[in-house]
Amino acid sequence: MATILDGKALAAKCKENVKEEAAALARTPGLAVIIVGDNPASRVYVNSKRKDCEECGFFSEEYALPATTTQEALIDLIHQLNGREEIDGILCQLPLPDGIDEEAVLMAISPEKDVDGFHPMNMGALLVGKEGFLPCTPYGIMEILAEYGIDPKGKNCVVIGRSNIVGKPMALLLLQKHGTVTVCHSRTTNLKEVCRQADILVAAVGKVNMVTADMIKPGAVVIDVAMNRNEAGKLCGDVDYNAVSAMASAITPVPGGVGPMTRAMLMKNTLLAAQKHQN
Ligand code: GUN
Repeated sequence: MATILDGKALAAKCKENVKEEAAALARTPGLAVIIVGDNPASRVYVNSKRKDCEECGFFSEEYALPATTTQEALIDLIHQLNGREEIDGILCQLPLPDGIDEEAVLMAISPEKDVDGFHPMNMGALLVGKEGFLPCTPYGIMEILAEYGIDPKGKNCVVIGRSNIVGKPMALLLLQKHGTVTVCHSRTTNLKEVCRQADILVAAVGKVNMVTADMIKPGAVVIDVAMNRNEAGKLCGDVDYNAVSAMASAITPVPGGVGPMTRAMLMKNTLLAAQKHQN
């Protein structure tokens, strides 16, 4: 049976450490969260982030803007937040409504306050191995691997999905840890064969049961990033959990795996931002 990689427990431990370090600062770390429109999933995420801030002893501000908000008004708000000393981190929840250019909005966030790690400056820093904010999901996955003593060095690592938020930065972080990395995506023709080579498989697609047991090398470590709902309305990832966990040596559950660590890393990045701003 596979080891269950307990992201929920690790996240609780990480947030406890963040809280302790935050308490040692002269000023409470502050996070501003912007949500535009009424996407129900985004609302759930934003509520969770507020709770996480409370748990860590952070100051948080929420800006819930109507779907009719213009790009200009949104960028104006970000510029104001960039200029406020008590705000260490700014997060604009994605996706944004149609008509707003996500890239322009993310570019407006000061790289020093970009606790999501989505600004091209931080993405570029990751690419060349310089210090910057790491995107929270891949950062959280690297923490899970480290916690369980799973070293990517020399391993075949396969990432399914090439988004800017997960797939691409995930590949770079595994590469930084000396993994041999392959990135698969919707145009990959031999997905099963590639996945069967993986010692570490990361699935970040958003499609229920797309990773089946016949795609798994016996003993592989399987990381499920997705947060889907099946026909019964139950939360599930990309991985056919029961069948795959019989093949894998370790696996993240959904829920309780990657998701809580993404949130914990947002708190960690906000702490790091506050530490830098106060030095
Ligand atoms: N939408 C889904 N995940 C994320 C995230 O990690 N950050 C932001 N800003 N939006 C998201």
